[in-house]
Amino acid sequence: MSERIQAPRGTQDVLPEQTAARAALEARAREVLESAGYQRIETPIFEHTELFQRGVGESTDIVQKEMYTFDDAGGRSLTLRPEGTAAVCRAYVEHGMHKLAQPVKLWYLGPFFRYERAQAGRYRQFWQIGAEALGSEDPAVDAEAILLLTTLLTDVGARGITVKVSSLGRLESRAEYRAALQEHLRRHADKLSEEVRNRIDLNPLRAFDSDHPGTREVMAGAPLLRDFLDAEDAQHFSEVLALLDAAGVAYEVEPTLVRGLDYYVRTVFEIHSSELGAQSALGGGGRYDRLIAEIGGPPTPGMGWAAGIERILLAGGAPPHAAPPVDLYVAGPVGPTQFRLVADARRAGLGAQLDLAGRSMKGVFKQAARLDARYVAWMNEDGSWELKDRQGGEQITAPDADAVVRDVLRGPGL
Ligand code: HAM
Repeated sequence: MSERIQAPRGTQDVLPEQTAARAALEARAREVLESAGYQRIETPIFEHTELFQRGVGESTDIVQKEMYTFDDAGGRSLTLRPEGTAAVCRAYVEHGMHKLAQPVKLWYLGPFFRYERAQAGRYRQFWQIGAEALGSEDPAVDAEAILLLTTLLTDVGARGITVKVSSLGRLESRAEYRAALQEHLRRHADKLSEEVRNRIDLNPLRAFDSDHPGTREVMAGAPLLRDFLDAEDAQHFSEVLALLDAAGVAYEVEPTLVRGLDYYVRTVFEIHSSELGAQSALGGGGRYDRLIAEIGGPPTPGMGWAAGIERILLAGGAPPHAAPPVDLYVAGPVGPTQFRLVADARRAGLGAQLDLAGRSMKGVFKQAARLDARYVAWMNEDGSWELKDRQGGEQITAPDADAVVRDVLRGPGL
C-alpha cells in the first residue's frame, strides 16, 4: 500500500457538519455589515510580495517570517495573502474608488495564510471576516467599526468577550514616544529577552507583547504612549470613546495594546474571548491613515478590522442552524421513474433524496428516520406508487409518479 498523504500542518478540513455553523456566521456577517452600508469585495489569494512588504511593514513578524512567498514560472515574487487590508487598499487605488462617495465601505471573507507555529486557535490557513472603511478620518468611523464587530460577535453568541481599545497617535507623537521607550529598554537591556533586545531599534513596541518574565517586569515600568499623544490625537481618541459610550459598547482602555502590523495610527482595538487560551483575540483592527499612500495611492485615511472565523467558532459563536428538511425519501432500485420523481419533487421546491445504497425496505425506513424525512415513497410492481407519511403514519397509493408530486406532495399534506 502507498503511504497515506495527510493535510499540511496547520491546515484544517472543514467537514460537512462544520459548514452549517460557518454558513450561518457568514449570513449574520452579511446582515450586520450590509445593513451598515458595507459591500462585499473579494481580492485574489495571492498578490505581489511587495504589497505586503510595504503595506504590512518590513519589521513585522508577518513579513519577516510568516509569509508563504514563491516565484511563479514568470519569475515574479508572489505571496499568499497573510491579511486583507493591504489588498483591499490596493483594489481601492487600482479601481479609482476615491472617485466614489466616501468613505467606501467594504467587507470580505476568505482564507488567509501565515507560517505560524500551529496550535489550537492558530493555523497556517485560517479564515477571516473583515471590514474596511476608506476615505474618512472621522472618529465615528472608528467607533462604528468597533461597534459592528462587537455586534457581530455578540449576535452569533461568542462567549466571554472583552473589547480593548487604545490609541497609537500619529507618527509624530509616536516618534517621540519611541525614543523614550527605546531609552527605557536600553536602560534595562540586561533583563530583556534576546529577541526583544535585538529589536530595540527596529520595533521597540513589540516588547509589550512578550511573555518573557524579565521583559514583562521591565515593561510594567515602561512609559505609556497615551502620555505622548498630541492634542489632536487625544481629542480624536476621546471622541471615539464618547461614541462607544453613546452606543452602549463596553470596552477597556488598554494603553499597552500592540498590534502585529505596522500600518496603524490612532485608534487600535482587539476583541478577546475568555473561552480561548493563549490565542484569545477573536478579532482586531484599527486606523491606517498612511497605508494607501505607502502603496502608491493618493493619501487616504482608512479604518477596519478582521476577525478569525475558527476562533469565533471556538468561542461558541455559531448561530443555531436547522438543516433543510427532507420531504421525500425514494426507495430503489433507481430507474428512470424514481430518478424523475426526485427531480420533479425538487423542481416543485421540495427536499428529495434517492436511496443510492440498494437498501431493503427496512433499511430504507431506517435511513429515512436518520434523515427525518417526512414521506417515504416506493414503486409497486404495477407502476403505481406508495407514499408513507412518517409523521401521521398514513399510507397513500398514487396511480403514478406524476401524481405523487402533483396530488400528494403539493397538496394539503406539505
Ligand atoms: P490580525 O490581528 O493579524 O489583523 O488578524 C485578525 C484576526 O484574524 C485575529 O484576531 C485572529 O482571530 C485571526 N487570525 C490571525 N492569525 C491567525 C491564525 N494564524 N490562525 C487563526 N486565526 C488567526 C489583521 O489581519 C488586520 N488585517 C485587521 C485589520 C483590518 N486592520 C485594519 N483593517
